[in-house]
Order: sequence, then C-alpha cells, then structure tokens
Amino acid sequence: MPRHLITSAIPYINGIKHLGNLVGSQLPADLFARYQRARGNEVMFLCATDEHGTPAELAAAKAGKPVAEYCAEMHEVQARIAEGFRLSFDHFGRSSSPQNHKLTQHFAGVLADRGLIREVTETQVYSKADGRFLPDRYIEGTCPNCGYESARGDQCDNCTKQLDPTDLIEPYSTISGSKDLEERETKHLYLCQSQMKDQLEQWIDTREGWPILTTSIAKKWLNDGDGLQDRGITRDLDWGIPVKKGDEDWPGMEGKVFYVWFDAPIEYIASAQEWVDSGKGDDWERWWRTDKGAEDVRYTQFMGKDNVPFHTLSFPATILGSEEPWKLVDYIKSFNYLNYDGGQFSTSRGRGVFMDQALEILPADYWRWWLLSHAPESSDSEFTWENFQSSVNKDLADVLGNFASRVTKFCRSKFGEEVPAGADYGDAEHKLIADLADKLRVYETHMEAMEVRKSAAALRAIWVAGNEYLQEVAPWSTFKEDPDKAAAQIRLALNLIRFYAVISSPFIPDASAELLTAMQTDKTSWPGDLAVELTALEPGHAFTVPDVTFRKITDDERAEWQERFAGTRD
Ligand code: MF3
Ligand code: ZN
Repeated sequence: MPRHLITSAIPYINGIKHLGNLVGSQLPADLFARYQRARGNEVMFLCATDEHGTPAELAAAKAGKPVAEYCAEMHEVQARIAEGFRLSFDHFGRSSSPQNHKLTQHFAGVLADRGLIREVTETQVYSKADGRFLPDRYIEGTCPNCGYESARGDQCDNCTKQLDPTDLIEPYSTISGSKDLEERETKHLYLCQSQMKDQLEQWIDTREGWPILTTSIAKKWLNDGDGLQDRGITRDLDWGIPVKKGDEDWPGMEGKVFYVWFDAPIEYIASAQEWVDSGKGDDWERWWRTDKGAEDVRYTQFMGKDNVPFHTLSFPATILGSEEPWKLVDYIKSFNYLNYDGGQFSTSRGRGVFMDQALEILPADYWRWWLLSHAPESSDSEFTWENFQSSVNKDLADVLGNFASRVTKFCRSKFGEEVPAGADYGDAEHKLIADLADKLRVYETHMEAMEVRKSAAALRAIWVAGNEYLQEVAPWSTFKEDPDKAAAQIRLALNLIRFYAVISSPFIPDASAELLTAMQTDKTSWPGDLAVELTALEPGHAFTVPDVTFRKITDDERAEWQERFAGTRD
C-alpha cells in the first residue's frame, strides 16, 4: 500500500491569508490528501506557519506586540481558520518550534562540514540608536530618482525604481526615526549552491512527468545569466533561529539568525517531529528518513509558482548537500496566481477576500468548490462574484443539492422514508451504471495526476449524469402507470446520493458528511464495482430528507458582497 507524504507551502505568519494563497497550496494539497486517504492509503499531511523574517517583525511592531507573542497568537488564528476550511493537516506546526531550531542548526552544521558554506564580509547599514543592522525595509529616505520622501531601502513605492539603502538621500531608521546611520562591515554565511549546480540539474532532469511550470522555473534559475548563485543564509535580526553549527557556537556569527527561507522548508521535517512530540504520532522517521523506511514514501509538495525556486533548488541543495538519508520530494505541484476582480489579490493592500471573511459569508464547501474548480493551473485565473455565484448556483445548488432533495422528498411522499423495493433495475439503469463506471475512472485518473480542474469537471459530469437520468426516466410520471418501476428508479437515485457523497468528499467534505448522515449509512469506502455499489442501500433501508445541502446565492447578495469587498481591508 503506497504511503503519501504531502506538504503545503507554509503560510507567512503576518496576517490572515487571502483566497489566492489558499488555492495556491493548502487547498489543493488538502484535496489530494483527502483523496489518498479515501482510497485507503496512508497519508501524512503537514503544514505550519512561517514565522521568521522581517515581515513577521514588522507585523508584530504594527500590532504593538512582542514578536513571539504576536506569532503565537497569529498561529492560533491561522490554525482555527484552517479548521474552518476543513484543511485536514495531520499537524500544523510552527517554524519557530524548538524542533526546527535544532534541525536547522543541524543542517547548517553538516553543510559546513561538507565545505558547502562560506563566510562573506559585507557592508551594511547600522543604526547606533537602535543598536542593530537595518534590513532594507527598515530604512527609508528620499528617492534619488523622483524625490519621494518615504522611499524604502529596497524600492521606491512612488516611481518603482529598485534601490539600495545607500542610494537614499537623508536615510533614517523606520524603527526609531534616527538619522544616525553608518555603514559597517558584517559577516554572513552563504550556501554554496553554485558548487551543486550539476548535481541539482541532473536531479531535476531525471524527475519524470513534472509539470512544465515547475521545471521551467528551475531551469531558468539554473542557467540564466551566470547560473545558479550562492545564497546568503543568515541575517542581522533578533527574531529567528540563532546561527549555530549544530550545538556549537559559530565564531563571528553571534547575534545573527538564519534567513527565513533557509529554515522554513526544514520545518516540513520539524513539523513531523512536532507531531510526534505532541503525542499525536509515534514515528516521524518512517516518513522522512530513507534509512528508516521512507524509501517507499511518495512525497508531493504543493505551492505557488513564486515558491518553486526554493523547492526545486535551495531546499534540495540543503538535503542533497547534507549527504544524509533525508527523503527528497518526488513531485512538485505548482500553481499560477488567482486574481481578484480585475486586479491582484494583495495582502499588503488588503485587496480581495480573506479567509476569515470568506467563512463569515458562506460555509467552506462553497469556497472549496469554486476555488478548486477554478484552480490557476495552466494559467492565472480570476475570481469574479458573477462567476462565483453562477458556479455555486449551477453546480452545487441546481445539480447536486437539487438531486438529493428532489429524490428524497419524492420518495418520502410516495414510498415513505425508506429505500423502496419494487422492480429490478432495467436497461436505463444498467446503461447509467456503465456510463458512471467510465466517468469514475476518468475522475480517478485526474485525481491521481493532481489535475485539479479536470478532476472537478469529471466529478461534475458524474453529478450531471445522475440528473439527466432522473430527467429522462421521470419517476414522478412513471409512478402513475408503474409504481414498481418508479420504485426501482428511486432506489437507484437514493443509491446515487450515497455514491456522490463518497466520491465528492475530497472537494466538499461537509456536504458529503451531511448526505451520508441523511442516508444513514456508514458504507463510505471508495467505490469498486458500481453494479454492487449502487445497490448498497437495500430495500427497507431507512433515510431522512437532508436539509438544504446547498442554497443559491441571490443577486442581492452578490451585489452586496461585490460592493463590500471592492475596497481594501483596514
Ligand atoms: N511562506 C512562504 C510563502 O508564503 C512559503 C514558504 S514554503 C517553505 O510564500 F518552503 F518555506 F516551507
Ligand atoms: Zn522614486
């Protein structure tokens, strides 16, 4: 039985994520995890919050809180929202965990032992008043290009020119406002990725069936310009993982921390250790150590395209460079961007719909369905309220929800609240069953391949086939001349509800659970032979009429939400 290790890119701690973030990693990862579990496979699905770096410090300062406290609070907020969306992580860890501190320091130590880390002396801006080096974003001043007075050290927001902090006229610290800044020398560690170029390229070239989006980005970084560059892996910040060589101090590196992008992917592994240490699991090594059983694990990562270079090059450089038996990724599924109503989603500008707001408006399944069925796979895609309304109303309310309610209500009124006996299945029923068997194989093939949109379309086609059958055989008319035949039609239709609930659960887990409750069945394993599956609910089996599984979005609601989310969030 295959075992699946699945990770989603770990979201930054600085605030609640928008729907574009969700559909680019966590949600499709959850779809795949749920599907693999439903197929009876063992799954380890990990995620975490990405808690280090300047953005975390800045967000904490803005919230007026010590950064550790801010991160602890935001972690809880994100964890609760993830539950709201039914993201079925086995563990939702924290990159600031003691486990990640230790493991990150361990990797740095072994990489240094293998000669893959070098020390570089650089000049950086130091603020005497703040007693620290200032990262680019902590320095502002007048733009030499356009004269804008609060240009940032990395870029002018007014004229968009890329800047170095030393270009700014009258620079000041954004922490204290102090202008008493000077350039000082400071030492940093670089990971010698350039030495590993051939090894990485060979590894990427031998990955089979990887998406073009993934490999083309990796290739570009490997071969553009001067080829793969060494990367700075330390920063002069307070908040982060202190630079150490394993357990030992690193002379000259006092007061420095690792760069957030060095420790964040290591958290994938540390998250599994946290899972064990929190008492939820007993063995993380069989997922992560190829000398301890992880040889037959299939590891899939999900992420947005901006994350691809770190996952195809930097993190593999860490793993391969260590020469230790860590599990390397087998497949990287990457996504383009989801846009919002004619522009971009933006966390910094608060543009678009954020995860907490979405759940205030509608239950998770509505969002899951729309987002997954419009996942930005082959190109960027766009959220519009019109499109959201029409997909929800058509696919969920008219097709799936209506089927369940119509069938159960009709049965209740003519045969009572139990599966009716009556005639055997006839030609129309056998034809439908054969058709559904074909359609199910299509759905499974796309789900295995993580073709998210195609999977949604295939699932929808299965729902539609049931509706068309019902329309065609029209049990409400049949009933008048041949109640026994109508009973057979309804018996099949009731069985279809159970079948739909089982196969739709990766997309819409709550609706699926509701339908199974209504059908009063615990037969939830993945369908095999459909002729057998579609007789699972036998004559006499009791059911209840489900509550409205999906309601329609009205034009008024759509207009109201469009208006409400037109501006930016404060
Ligand atoms: N926090 C990053 C982002 O949201 C993703 C980090 S993924 C990991 O873009 F590799 F670092 F884990
Ligand atoms: Zn400017």
